[in-house]
This record gives sequence, structure tokens and C-alpha cells, in this order.
Amino acid sequence: MRPRTRRRPGTRSSRASSRARTGSGTSTPSRCTTDPSWPRLGTTRSISRCRARRAGSQRTGRTTSISVGRPDPDRGTSPRSAGAVQWDPAQYSLFGAERRRPFFDLVGQVGAVDPRRVVDLGCGPGTLTTTLAERWPGATVLGIDSSPEMIAEAIGAHRQGRVEFALGGAEDFSAAGVDVLVSNALLQWVPSHRELLARWAAELDPGGWLAFQVPANFGSPSHRLMRELAESPRWRDRLGGVLRHDGPVAEPAEYLELLLGAGLRVAAWRTEYQHLLPGPDPVLEWVRGTGLRPVLDRLSAAETADFEAEYGARLRQAYPRGPFGTVFPFLRTFVVAEKPGA
Ligand SMILES: C[S@@+](CC[C@H](N)C(=O)[O-])C[C@H]1O[C@@H](n2cnc3c(N)ncnc32)[C@H](O)[C@@H]1O
Repeated sequence: MRPRTRRRPGTRSSRASSRARTGSGTSTPSRCTTDPSWPRLGTTRSISRCRARRAGSQRTGRTTSISVGRPDPDRGTSPRSAGAVQWDPAQYSLFGAERRRPFFDLVGQVGAVDPRRVVDLGCGPGTLTTTLAERWPGATVLGIDSSPEMIAEAIGAHRQGRVEFALGGAEDFSAAGVDVLVSNALLQWVPSHRELLARWAAELDPGGWLAFQVPANFGSPSHRLMRELAESPRWRDRLGGVLRHDGPVAEPAEYLELLLGAGLRVAAWRTEYQHLLPGPDPVLEWVRGTGLRPVLDRLSAAETADFEAEYGARLRQAYPRGPFGTVFPFLRTFVVAEKPGA
């Protein structure tokens, strides 16, 4: 059996991390593969991009669904579960450079040398998923996301020989048989993620890696002002309770202890990025792609315009435009862990 790991989590391999940063690396073969030995995927619906292409469904959002797990009774014929947020891949992909950087800072600390099965859980539009195939030329990479819009975009735009995408929820995912599990900017959307982390840690094989990043800016003006406005008398009836603030993410030390307690080697840290954003309302534009989604889902077009006018004015005060653009500080928590014993 080939060694999969050499470094301890948190120690950098310059070759691997430079490949991850630059996106360069061995090019991928352009054959269609669906590895039959992939682990159980719970309720995911694998939408092989190769099959989608054969079905002529690329870029149309029409996909060929292949059920690879038990049926999902909650979803019925609709791919969107009740209460799920509707995502807009194009809006999310604005500020791509700023959103990309934490992903590479995370993956750069994963020491897996030659993993076979890599999963990007909450893969979004798939842009970053494909870089995992470049980083690990011997791996099959599976991107999983619960948003039909995101998965349709991923299939249509990021097709590569060793990269597949599947519709599925993190809650149903099993880490058994996975060599590297990456999850970037997903788990803040999953209230049960502390329990999931404990389960995934138990399911990983010896030598398996778990790496995730979550925003740690729920107390920052961008989020606080959004919540305050949503709870104000004008909006309370429409938006009351829509935005969570009951500990959506943990402190780095809590993740550290949780995974150490599960027997993993762990590195956890925080980074505050100072994003310099262009344009007149850049923070509003940013949150339209992520944190504001639950609000946008609830409101009509006219209500959205009113809410954004009020919220945008508050944001401009909190994040004034400077001579070089708008500085948007953004705190993020990173955790990289390895299961010893390979
Ligand atoms: C902020 S985006 C991050 C996308 C990508 N990982 C990236 O770094 O660009 C969060 C993604 O998580 C997905 N998501 C939210 N809840 C999920 C869940 N319970 N299971 C799977 N995916 C989920 C959303 O559909 C969205 O694509």
C-alpha cells in the first residue's frame, strides 16, 4: 500500500502548497471515470459530468441523476429540501480571488501525499474542486453540494477526467473510505456540524485527512447590521428568526479539542484577511452571494430593494470607502487533522 501521508498537520510542504496556490500541476486525463469503489454517499445523487455530457445536458442545468445512496424521502421529486437556501453561482463567484485564498491556505496544510479519493464537501460552483485534482494527480475528486444550482454550474463549467459532482447534504455524508475530506466555507450552514465532525473523525481510515474552514465573522458589522435590521419593527414579521446567531461556528480551540479527543492529530488557527474591495457597495455585493441569501429568499423584489437600501446605507457607514477601495476585514477559522496509524 502506498504511503498517503508524511507530514504532520500544519506543517507545510512547499511543493504541494505552491502547486495548490498557483493552480499548476500535472494535467488531468480527459477520460470519464466513475470509480465503483467510492464509499457510500448517503443520500447524494451523483451527477456524473461524463453522463451529463452524454445526455447533452451540460450548461443547461438539466442533469442526469444517478442515485448512489438510499432514497431521500424528504426531498421527494424536488431536489431542494425544505428551508434550504437558494444559491446563485454567478453572484457567489464575484470576489472569486478573495474567496479562493482561504481555500488554498487550508489545502496547503494538508500533508496527504498520494490520496486516491478526495472529497470537496459543499463544493459550490466547483471552481476550487478542480484544483484538488491538480494538487493530487492520482486522485479521483468528488464535489458534493446540496444546491442544485451550484451542482449544475459545477457540472457544466468544471468538467475534468477525474472530477465528479454529486447533489447531496453534508448531514448524510460518510467519510468512510475517503483519503482527504476538504470542506471550505460550508459548515457554518450546518447546525449539526460538531456532531458530524466527530462522526467523520471516527469513519476516516488511518492516514485519512480532514480539513475545513469556516468564517468567524458573525459578530462583525456586516453580520450584526444584517441581523439588527432583520429584527427591526419594519422587517421582524418577514425576517424574524431567519438569520441564525446561536453559535453557528465554534472557537478554534473547541474544534481542536473535539478532534484531538477523537484521536486525530490537529492544527487549528485563525486568519483575518483584509480584503480590499472595489465599487460603490462592495460589502453588500459580497454578502448578496453568501450571508444575505436567507433574507433574499424570503423577500419579494420590491422588499429586497427596500431592505438593501437600508442595509447598504448602514454598511457604507461601517465600511467607508477609502482612497484605495473599501477595506473589508474577514476573520476565518481553519482546522486540518490527520488520523494517525496508516
Ligand atoms: C459559501 S459556499 C462555499 C462553496 C465552496 N466550498 C467554495 O469555497 O467556494 C457554501 C456552499 O455550501 C453548500 N451547502 C450549504 N448547506 C449544505 C449542506 N447541508 N450540505 C451540503 N452543501 C451545503 C451551499 O449550497 C454552497 O454551495
